[in-house]
Amino acid sequence: MIRSHIIGSGSALPAKCVSNAELAERVDTTDEWIVERTGIRQRFIAGEGETTGSLATEAARKALDDAGVDAQDIGLIVLATATPDQTFPATATTVQHALGCNGGVAFDVQAVCSGFLYAMATADAMLRTGMARRALVIGAETFSRILDWEDRTTCVLFGDGAGAIVLEARDGDGTDGAGILATRLHADGAYSELLYVDGGPSTTGEVGKLRMKGREVFRHAVVNLAEVLGEVLDDAGIVASEIDWIVPHQANLRILDATARKLGLPAERMVVTVGDHANTSAASVPLAFDVARKDGRIKAGDLVMFEAMGGGFTWGASLARM
Ligand code: COA
Repeated sequence: MIRSHIIGSGSALPAKCVSNAELAERVDTTDEWIVERTGIRQRFIAGEGETTGSLATEAARKALDDAGVDAQDIGLIVLATATPDQTFPATATTVQHALGCNGGVAFDVQAVCSGFLYAMATADAMLRTGMARRALVIGAETFSRILDWEDRTTCVLFGDGAGAIVLEARDGDGTDGAGILATRLHADGAYSELLYVDGGPSTTGEVGKLRMKGREVFRHAVVNLAEVLGEVLDDAGIVASEIDWIVPHQANLRILDATARKLGLPAERMVVTVGDHANTSAASVPLAFDVARKDGRIKAGDLVMFEAMGGGFTWGASLARM
């Protein structure tokens, strides 16, 4: 039985950190409002020369170092982003060339904040069918470049960053129970108008700005995440109390608390980085995962649930044993 094992992780943030108080000098908001409604205290904003591709490359290099894998051994790069460096080519190919592992498979996946879950599921399926032996799965974003900085209901919520993991296909009898065990993905295009960008190459010819009906997104997120988490638990044949860590998409602390409550898990089992990074869309899950691995919380043998929900709507969850 071939399973995809997570053998390394890395992350990258822009140099510039912007606190809520600094943001309040530019838009009509307060530190109190942002902290109380979202849990966000600060975010990192890409400066000149920092792009989705450069952040992704830095995160990928750290993940390769962490895994002890040479770039030459990477046959597949799947990069999740809604803010690519260019409309095309895929930012994954830029990363591939920067790493010097030219010639393998490299492409982008676009599922907004669920992008990393979609990318990991795609890479997992390709590894298990033998299309590559080792893959880099990256989530990287520069949402600061598609924010309307006059719109206080959205611009306070997002930040830039990147996270990456190395997956390796290992053939075994499955008795160690390690690797990606179960994944479920969903999308429902009926809700596209609740969270979208008002531009694109084939419509306005402009990049556009992010638009969101936050309260309605919030309501759907709590319901959809509870459902998909239940599906993955059923598929894997485990109960919620067996989960060691949940690594959720970091949109809003209140969504994370509500999800933990629905699962009947203590809030301490949730990896929470939204206060430090804000919502970094497809980067948020691998960024949070890397933080919790590097600070020693997530250890070998732990059962880790990844989950995310984003524009589309898209949502999904994946369970892995470290
Ligand atoms: N600073 C101060 N006041 C603000 C504000 C800001 N940055 N943004 C909005 N407000 C005001 C609103 O204008 C509104 O004022 P009003 O009552 O006078 O009209 C009030 O705060 C409440 O707004 P509301 O949108 O109802 O707040 P909320 O409690 O729903 O919180 C979000 C707003 C966006 C934080 C919350 O809905 C959310 O997190 N939604 C999910 C977003 C999400 O997860 N998106 C990504 C999914 S991938």
